[in-house]
Amino acid sequence: MAMLTVKQLSKNFGGVTALNDINFSINKGEILGVIGPNGSGKTTLINCITGFIKASAGEIIFNGRNIKGMQPYKIVNLGICRTFQIMRPYSSMPAYKNLIIPLYGPRARKTGGWRGGGRHGDRNIIALDLLEEVGFERESKVPYKLAGTLPTGYLKRLELARCLALNPDLLICDEVFSGLSMSEIASMVPLIEKLNKSGVTIIMIEHRLKELFKVAKRIMAISYGDKIIEGSPTEVMANEKVKEAYLGSEGGV
Ligand SMILES: Nc1ncnc2c1ncn2[C@@H]1O[C@H](COP(=O)(O)OP(=O)(O)O)[C@@H](O)[C@H]1O
Ligand SMILES: [Mg+2]
Repeated sequence: MAMLTVKQLSKNFGGVTALNDINFSINKGEILGVIGPNGSGKTTLINCITGFIKASAGEIIFNGRNIKGMQPYKIVNLGICRTFQIMRPYSSMPAYKNLIIPLYGPRARKTGGWRGGGRHGDRNIIALDLLEEVGFERESKVPYKLAGTLPTGYLKRLELARCLALNPDLLICDEVFSGLSMSEIASMVPLIEKLNKSGVTIIMIEHRLKELFKVAKRIMAISYGDKIIEGSPTEVMANEKVKEAYLGSEGGV
């Protein structure tokens, strides 16, 4: 059985059809890449799956349960965590303190959280361990800096750490590579691979196709709310509609 199955999902905003009859599924342990030009409905898809907005039609089945219309906090507690394309840290708190809240949350308490840190141990230490895991230099001052002062590269990593604190079964990343330098992306790729090997199933929405194709062996392309194709990176990039959708767009390889 698939971990997540999305069936005939549609979302309209007034007259705008942001998603139109989207169908896909992901199995435990997989990395699925989702691509599509700006405005094609990628973030809307995440928002529907994670309960931030209610889909207009369709079903979202997670581990056998229809989660469509559930509140976001309940969906998190079931094990789906997402990063935000526009990062929303607690700006006036130090970076590591941003992780204290998820480490005390019900999901972390229920599952033990990241390496059991939601149940026992000093959560300040666990938060610092977690930041180190995603690439903050442990001995530097960076983990102690106010989150609002961090550059994009660290904020993207903080987003990942916030999700990991909750011990997710399914992690959904909304353009975690965007705004990063080539070297920052290069260091992020092994991190994603490591998380996946440790058992986290991942949906990656990405514009950076070259790097995405290193980690995701199955890709779904959407354009103007329609699913165009699903297949291997080679199959997807050979598709005429995908080429057309990407022609002249910043997402081109
Ligand atoms: N809350 C909203 N209200 C109205 N329209 C929205 C809202 N969110 C997204 N849209 C519209 O839905 C379409 C898809 O947007 P989005 O999912 O953000 O695309 P992507 O993430 O692929 O760039 C766009 O036309 C966008 O303007
Ligand atoms: Mg988006």
